[in-house]
Amino acid sequence: MGGVFQVDQAEFIEQAKQFQLEGQTIAVVKNNAYNYGLDFAVKAFAIAGIDYFATTSIEDAIYIRKICGQKVNIFLLNPTTDFKRVKQHRLEITLPSLDYYMSYKHDLVDIDLHIEFEGLFKRSGFAKINEVEAFLNDAKANDFDLNIKGLWTHFGYADEFDGVYEKERQLWLDFVEGVFELGIHPSVVHAQNSASFMRDGLLNNHSHVRLGIGLYGSKPFESLDSKDFIQSVSVTAPIVQIRQLKAGESLGYSKAFTATEDCKVAIVDIGYGDGILRERIKHGCEIGGRSYEIVALMMSHMAVLVDDHVKMHMPVYLYGKSQRIDHFTALGVGANSEQLGAFNYNSMRREIVYDD
Ligand SMILES: Cc1ncc(COP(=O)(O)O)c(C=O)c1O
Repeated sequence: MGGVFQVDQAEFIEQAKQFQLEGQTIAVVKNNAYNYGLDFAVKAFAIAGIDYFATTSIEDAIYIRKICGQKVNIFLLNPTTDFKRVKQHRLEITLPSLDYYMSYKHDLVDIDLHIEFEGLFKRSGFAKINEVEAFLNDAKANDFDLNIKGLWTHFGYADEFDGVYEKERQLWLDFVEGVFELGIHPSVVHAQNSASFMRDGLLNNHSHVRLGIGLYGSKPFESLDSKDFIQSVSVTAPIVQIRQLKAGESLGYSKAFTATEDCKVAIVDIGYGDGILRERIKHGCEIGGRSYEIVALMMSHMAVLVDDHVKMHMPVYLYGKSQRIDHFTALGVGANSEQLGAFNYNSMRREIVYDD
């Protein structure tokens, strides 16, 4: 119960200000805003000047409406059939396929719709331009006055450098052209995640970028300069005991660690139950500015091989200024969002540092 996820609000806002494309950013706040906390992140992004949000959860979308009022736009990424609440809270929704349109066309009037293209990612979306044509013809035949506000896709390959991204980007640009040729010109055209934005700037014919991880202060791919990404979060835990082990003695489940010489081990109050990934502990921790090896990971504790510099009151850092999330991503610990998403706030404390 001792782990602390601490975010510096001023740094978080500074990063959102410097990374966004001013007036043209949709902030992705799904999964509890990448686990920074939905309430905290939306309010901080709003201070940074962002007025468009995207999430997968209708409950979260309604919550954003509640805290931000009518001045923001809220786009629901997941297909929904909860049209009553969509209209009540003025949410914008995805139009994910021809089948969906055919099933719910009578409910879609008076809702801001964003046509979705499946692209190479294929999680959802129209596959071909003739499917878009079919739904537009049907809407015309039925005299439906649909609000086609947006056109969007998701790039699944923008953080990889093997030529696939270029293909998915071209497929999408062709699709956009195709929709324009059908006489439809949505005002909001958005596809680019943080990696695509870093690679290409704003693409032609696009009105917005749809950003996640870069706004939260982690690099979407390794070759970028860390100086441009302020990591506002640290993760620390207290030492609950310092134990002496004699050479040959073991500690932890299945003798997780066996001392090869007499040594000291700090037992730290954080474990995999709090969301510390097993891959993460391979890269050690920091105590009092020095690096130490983590020799065992348990559900609520970990054991760290320490020396005489380490005292009971010193916090143990797993993430911080010199332990960047994106650095561990580059070391193969898991995607930035995977490391963030693992934190368990039922057992860890979340603290926000406010500048006053
Ligand atoms: C649909 C969609 N758009 C945008 C993003 C933002 O991506 P990133 O965090 O890489 O900027 C995500 C993230 O997974 C997403 O699923």
